Amino acid sequence: MTITDERASNPAAGGADRPIGYGRIQRKEDPRFIRGKGNYIDDIVLPGMLHSAILRAPVAHATLVSIDTTRALAHPGVVAVITGKDLLGLKLAWAPTLSADVQAVLVTDKVRFQGQEVAFVVANDRYAARDALELIDVEYDVLPPVIDARKALDPGAPVIRTDIEGKTDNHIFDWEAGDAAETDAVFASADVVISQEIVYPRVHPAPMETCGAVADYEPIEGHLTLYETTQAPHAHRTLFAIVAGIPEHKIRIVSPDIGGGFGNKVGIYPGYILAVVGSIVTGKPVKWVEDRSENLMSTSFARDYIMQGEIAATKDGTILALRTNVLADHGAFNATAQPTKYPAGFFHIFTGSYDLKAAHCKVTGVYTNKAPGGVAYACSFRVTEAVYLVERLVDILARKLEMDPAELRIKNFIQPEQFPYKNKTGWEYDSGNYEPAMRLSMQIAGYEELRREQKEKRERGELMGIGVSFFTETVGAGPRKHMDIVGLGMADGAELRVHPTGKAVVRLSVQSQGQGHETTFAQIVAEELGIPPEDIDVVHGDTDQTPFGLGTYGSRSTPVSGAAVALVARKVRDKARFIAAAMLETRPEDLEWEKGRWFVKGDPSIGKTIAEISMGAHGTVELPEGIDGNLDAEVTYDPPNLTFPFGAYICVVDIDPGTGHVKVRRFIAVDDCGTRINPMIIEGQVHGGLTDGVGMALMEIIQFDEDGNNLGGSFMDYLIPTAMEVPNWETGFTVTPSPHHPIGAKGVGESATVGSPPAVVNAVVDALAPFGVVHMDMPCTPGRVWEAMQGRPRPP
Ligand code: CDP
Repeated sequence: MTITDERASNPAAGGADRPIGYGRIQRKEDPRFIRGKGNYIDDIVLPGMLHSAILRAPVAHATLVSIDTTRALAHPGVVAVITGKDLLGLKLAWAPTLSADVQAVLVTDKVRFQGQEVAFVVANDRYAARDALELIDVEYDVLPPVIDARKALDPGAPVIRTDIEGKTDNHIFDWEAGDAAETDAVFASADVVISQEIVYPRVHPAPMETCGAVADYEPIEGHLTLYETTQAPHAHRTLFAIVAGIPEHKIRIVSPDIGGGFGNKVGIYPGYILAVVGSIVTGKPVKWVEDRSENLMSTSFARDYIMQGEIAATKDGTILALRTNVLADHGAFNATAQPTKYPAGFFHIFTGSYDLKAAHCKVTGVYTNKAPGGVAYACSFRVTEAVYLVERLVDILARKLEMDPAELRIKNFIQPEQFPYKNKTGWEYDSGNYEPAMRLSMQIAGYEELRREQKEKRERGELMGIGVSFFTETVGAGPRKHMDIVGLGMADGAELRVHPTGKAVVRLSVQSQGQGHETTFAQIVAEELGIPPEDIDVVHGDTDQTPFGLGTYGSRSTPVSGAAVALVARKVRDKARFIAAAMLETRPEDLEWEKGRWFVKGDPSIGKTIAEISMGAHGTVELPEGIDGNLDAEVTYDPPNLTFPFGAYICVVDIDPGTGHVKVRRFIAVDDCGTRINPMIIEGQVHGGLTDGVGMALMEIIQFDEDGNNLGGSFMDYLIPTAMEVPNWETGFTVTPSPHHPIGAKGVGESATVGSPPAVVNAVVDALAPFGVVHMDMPCTPGRVWEAMQGRPRPP
């Protein structure tokens, strides 16, 4: 069952009679996508454009002895071959990462992960560039790699970052949140303590479109135009100015249609920088587009957290405290993307949706010989890992106490009257009402009936599992006083222009990668100004055309940029009041607003529509002092807090006892993202996120062998789910608006990716309960499930 009667149950969305604004309208961007008229990086062709390819390291750890490019340079069609040595001369061999580390653009001293960039070939066509890679002669002196994060800090472990002066180990950081002593005290006196090592394996965002760029450096004026697959064009421009030394006002970043980001297109990869260098060196535009294996092997991975978690509780199931120690594998360079203050992102939301007496988490980051990164893959900075940890632990506790996992959760929820709720690690949850969401998902699922069915099936030896999860996210990063990325405060801008005829254009600093911003942001303006969404153009993804802001990731677009858009529309509305008053020869305070027009209080027949007011502003109406002749405004929004969407998920699986194959039979997702702008788009976001979650729970993993060979470098090895592996999603919603967001909206883009993996794994473990299985690490592949059923340990 899908609840679709949006407006009846959502007062914030307005009455059913409202013709414009929020609601289930079709996506404005889809006509071009379904006609194949999207404009992606690889569609961009500039006059005289050259192509490129990157030579990548075949081993994980090795000293670079020599590179000889003579044969490659002689290959027909090759224009330039660039090595690390060339970049040293340009001071571009190393680039700053988003986490105050540096990353090699091309190897100069030693290789630190398999797939690392070694040389860059620029040629007349892509084939020549690729062929020339084979002709670069490189000599490596292979070193022992560090692959297992658990061994990275062993005395005598090979030191990976010999480039950092004085570095003698692979330690990156220790970070903690919460009160350790208080938490230990609660644990010491608790009736029940459960403890479990839980691994969130390395996975990859794997967007449909891989990363790429077209760099066009114009030497006379010194202008750089960089078409790039980026989720954050403005931040990239600033960083390019700093890295390449090109004045910022001479850099234009264009992020055209993006075929999925999921965090993968946040970082600045060597390929982008190399395309720029290629263009500077050759004097021509240079295109670089990576292939699937390059994307999977060298761009940012996600997760890779080894978490030791514990819960302290009373015998009757009151959860008292949580603590965890985490080992975070950050790969060869610390290139994770998160606000500076939080090296483990927002992992300290691991207290989840529960009212606790104490909590403490400690995270240690280490270097290994793996690709760098640690991106927020469809989540707000490590919220996914946090939610997975707590939701697995709560299930383990339910099993220990022989309590129903849904009822145990309900018993411990933060209560509605406790909001705004300050948790034990420093977050202030803005709003929440958890039990109705949990009860609604149970109602949609027919929870009791499912449990009855499971009991009967168990008696017959059939393996059916029901998994419950409840999550609270923290999205919309974030207040400038707390959050920045490489020193840039996490605010976003919006500019709105209403043309004389009443049509409008709104310019955003965030960038859609398929989430439908061209529709929903037009809907926000429509709701505020009464202009139909089809009369409002949304411009984004071009730094020359849009205001500064930090971009789209961590479901922050609606919480931050959506707020900016609502406020800029209100600014226009306020200005329109003065102009309308002048036009009607009355005082602004004598006017009243109804959607789309200002009218005289007490006489609705006398009024002016936004279009009339705009024509007046641009026309000959005598304007009041201080009001200029347009209906334009701009705003930069600094969010006072993050928003805290939540959701209740139930997964039903059947396991084939002969093969260990897990079939997700049903999945019920109830989400609460506050005010819902476009329910159809929200459902699409949820469907996609759930599919991602099933993928991570059942099949996705980037593994390495002991030599550091990446075993997940193609879609033959790195499995992602298709329509065949997922059920018909059953969605529902509740609405608890954010009290501090101008329209009460919270983010939703990543909720389902965050909430679904624990529901699936909880279901698998529940199905395997007759075998005494209490935990299983993802992905729950048929092999692993089958082994668990045999009671055999998984090989290390
Ligand atoms: O930052 P990102 O766009 O990935 O995530 P988001 O802000 O959660 O928005 C994803 C899509 O869902 C956008 O088109 C939003 O405007 C839409 N949305 C909505 O219609 N109502 C909400 N309360 C939240 C998001």
